[in-house]
Amino acid sequence: MTQLSAAQNGKTNPSDGSRALYGGKSTRRITVRDIAAAKERGEKWPMLTAYDAMTASVFDEAGIPVLLVGDSAGNCHLGYDTTVPVTLDQMTMLTAAVVRGTGRALIVADLPFGSYQEGPVQALRSATRLVKEAGAGAVKLEGGERSHRQIELLVESGIPVMAHIGLTPQSVHAMGYRVQGRGEEAAQQLLRDAKAVQDAGAFAVVLELVPAELAAEVTRTLHIPTVGIGAGPETDAQVLVWTDMLGLTGGRVPKFVKKYADLRTVMGDAAKAYAEDVVGGTFPAQEHSVH
Ligand code: KIV
Repeated sequence: MTQLSAAQNGKTNPSDGSRALYGGKSTRRITVRDIAAAKERGEKWPMLTAYDAMTASVFDEAGIPVLLVGDSAGNCHLGYDTTVPVTLDQMTMLTAAVVRGTGRALIVADLPFGSYQEGPVQALRSATRLVKEAGAGAVKLEGGERSHRQIELLVESGIPVMAHIGLTPQSVHAMGYRVQGRGEEAAQQLLRDAKAVQDAGAFAVVLELVPAELAAEVTRTLHIPTVGIGAGPETDAQVLVWTDMLGLTGGRVPKFVKKYADLRTVMGDAAKAYAEDVVGGTFPAQEHSVH
């Protein structure tokens, strides 16, 4: 189990480092109550996606307090063009792996397209699998006002829900991939969506690809934390897709992504070096051989 102290990573915010989501000590998993307390303290926190046990263990050891088993697994792990084909069976398997690889992070699992849109009872059946079979600590679903009945039943049933509004990739065929909340009417709808998910009992809400000023207003208005992706610097938390953030994604990544490493080059170069050693007969050497 990961135990970071404020002194270990040099973070002093908040001053009581032992309670901080990032940089604080924990001998147990982060819960949604810790997330609520962080909003009260005004503490910002990072979230990353994860889709397998080993990568998740690296992020857990780095002190990332919340890991999202996003249905972005469709694009980033399973080779699909969108998140739409991802199934509940796939999400259950990936979530279980991420839970097994971690000891401290709160694991939030995405409800994939088609697993909750029929209504609250379908949502409860699907979310129950992610919590009971896979061990997720919370689920995430897309939609504001349109998903409030699903959120209400899940929360009443004891399943914490992270909502997701703004750009909702499962609706790509209807809305495309473009900035949401531009213009007075769209901004008012986003605010209504944000209040609807809070009133329904969501413990946090992702704001994807919305203007920074609007995301700041939503963050000031809500008492639950906002988690921004392409939503400017004023949200309570930030999330990035790990393959984008570490430079593994091939091709174009969205403008809001900051690349903290270039894993695609590192891995490609390593693969080529290995291949050349094998072809040239320099691997395996004596030290890699058993006698
Ligand atoms: O699936 C995902 O990775 C997400 C994030 C982009 C928030 O929903």
